[in-house]
Amino acid sequence: MARQSAVPGSCYFYYPRLVCVVGVRDDARATTNFAPVTWATPLSSDPPLYGVCLSPKTFTHHLALKTGEFTVNFLPVTEAPLAAALGRLSGRDVDKVRALGLEVEAGEVLGTPSLAVAYISAECLLLERHQVGDQTLFVGEVQCIHAVAEAFDADGVLRVDRVTPLLYLGSNNYVGTDASSATRPEPQGAPVP
Ligand SMILES: Cc1cc2nc3c(=O)[nH]c(=O)nc-3n(C[C@H](O)[C@H](O)[C@H](O)COP(=O)(O)O)c2cc1C
Repeated sequence: MARQSAVPGSCYFYYPRLVCVVGVRDDARATTNFAPVTWATPLSSDPPLYGVCLSPKTFTHHLALKTGEFTVNFLPVTEAPLAAALGRLSGRDVDKVRALGLEVEAGEVLGTPSLAVAYISAECLLLERHQVGDQTLFVGEVQCIHAVAEAFDADGVLRVDRVTPLLYLGSNNYVGTDASSATRPEPQGAPVP
């Protein structure tokens, strides 16, 4: 296929990306706010650090600074409508848990609940924050994870034959992984992380 040059921003060149729903406690309203992000990444394994980029315009940004903690929640592809709804609404205007009838699970180590529908969730303590362009990178230290046991194999690898993770393509387009394309190449050279 022929390639064309374009200015960055004219396409979602870094997508697809895994959808990560950030949960933050809203103590004033005795609820939890959830918002999807795709600009999220593991940052360190020891200590276990996970980073999420939030626009200062989001209510989630405000609440994460207030409470100093958050959860990250990963959804199956069947929950694309939920991700879209959570991304359309703001916790400033509406209690998303009530409005969308969400089932939440209380935190075990921290006080921030996670989303029951997630195949895996992690409780994160806010360690650092960095201004990165128009976003704030929130660095969370993972305190505890909660996973659907059968979703992972003995090495902790996601069983894509059992769970199809939700990916975002941009512009309200979502996709899952195709388990039939899963490969396990013969080992060559150094082990990969
Ligand atoms: C799939 C998806 C991915 C998103 N990724 C991000 C992101 O990485 N960072 C961000 O600040 N907002 C992102 N958004 C937008 C927020 O989720 C949206 O502004 C949301 O309404 C914020 O809710 P809140 O005001 O309750 O925090 C994304 C939205 C969707 C639907």
